[in-house]
Amino acid sequence: MINTAINISKVSESKFTSIDLDNVTFGTIYTDHMFFCDFKDGEWQQPQITPYQPLQLDPSARVFHYGQAAFEGMKAYKDEHGDAWIFRPEENWKRINFSARRLAMPEVPEEVFMNGLKTLLEMDKQWIVPGKGNSLYIRPFLFATEAGVSAAPAAEYKFMIICTPVQAYYKGGEVKVKISDYFSRAANGGVGATKAAGNYAASFYPTNKVKEEGYQQIIWTNSTHEYLEEAGTMNVFFRIGDKLLTAPTDDRILDGVTRKSLIQLAKDEGIEVEVRKVSVKEVTEAARKGELKEVFGAGTAAVVVPITGVGYQDEHFDLPKLDNPYSTMLKEKLLNIQYNITEDKYNWTQKI
Ligand code: COI
Repeated sequence: MINTAINISKVSESKFTSIDLDNVTFGTIYTDHMFFCDFKDGEWQQPQITPYQPLQLDPSARVFHYGQAAFEGMKAYKDEHGDAWIFRPEENWKRINFSARRLAMPEVPEEVFMNGLKTLLEMDKQWIVPGKGNSLYIRPFLFATEAGVSAAPAAEYKFMIICTPVQAYYKGGEVKVKISDYFSRAANGGVGATKAAGNYAASFYPTNKVKEEGYQQIIWTNSTHEYLEEAGTMNVFFRIGDKLLTAPTDDRILDGVTRKSLIQLAKDEGIEVEVRKVSVKEVTEAARKGELKEVFGAGTAAVVVPITGVGYQDEHFDLPKLDNPYSTMLKEKLLNIQYNITEDKYNWTQKI
């Protein structure tokens, strides 16, 4: 490591006041600054924060050709006293390095990640808009910058953090999902459990297909299409009767931070949670008998998203409208911790 002190160059004037933050489309507006740290000559170089700006890369940079790239998603929240908080950041640091190892990229040192994150957020704090439903989505990412198209791991990389003020990921409307009986997202021994950029690229075509049928997302299944795994932008929970089911994380399924937080919150509420393989058969049979009470997605960007209908082959099941769904209760519990409204007995949040 050469020098971990961040070299900072600030904007002369913030863009903040010129932006209509009441009507933002997810991920379209970026804060004043960005963080980056280059890896070359076998070590991480001095980290930098500069005004947010385009990058210059050689057209043969390996990220463009072999997809050596991984990312994370995190959020910062502002409470009613004006204090800003981040949620379980060490989980994202560990996971980007899990992705880095699997894609043969160098791991990002904890100090580079945490110091970069906290300094950037401190500088762009005004962009964390208060009020439940508003947050600053943070996108750390790592990619290969070395020029040259030989198919081998690059020797040079860039780790960056950019931030975008957001509201709901799925705005308004209903979220309906279709269970995949053909396309696969991941395989045993593959990269499904990482946040490799290519996992998302590969999901777009099948997702477009189900969009043509009126669904917003796919629920991916295992290679034999017998077990339900995750949706493209979130992990998935199923409520059959009063039991909550979700697939275990493995080679194919992302170890979502929201997922694991909800499992903990649900258990602490006395809900019976089963983390196990969930079959297409049991869920569709429960739906036919009216026993499938809820399906919801969980992810950093999406938070907790109630699914209003599930499609499978030629069938479609509308889910009942419950008075007290688990999804609403768990989402409130989670948001209350994230926005410092209730006590965080889990030590999940960190003040910036
Ligand atoms: C997140 O929830 O933060 C994600 O990374 C999902 C992304 C596709 C929006």
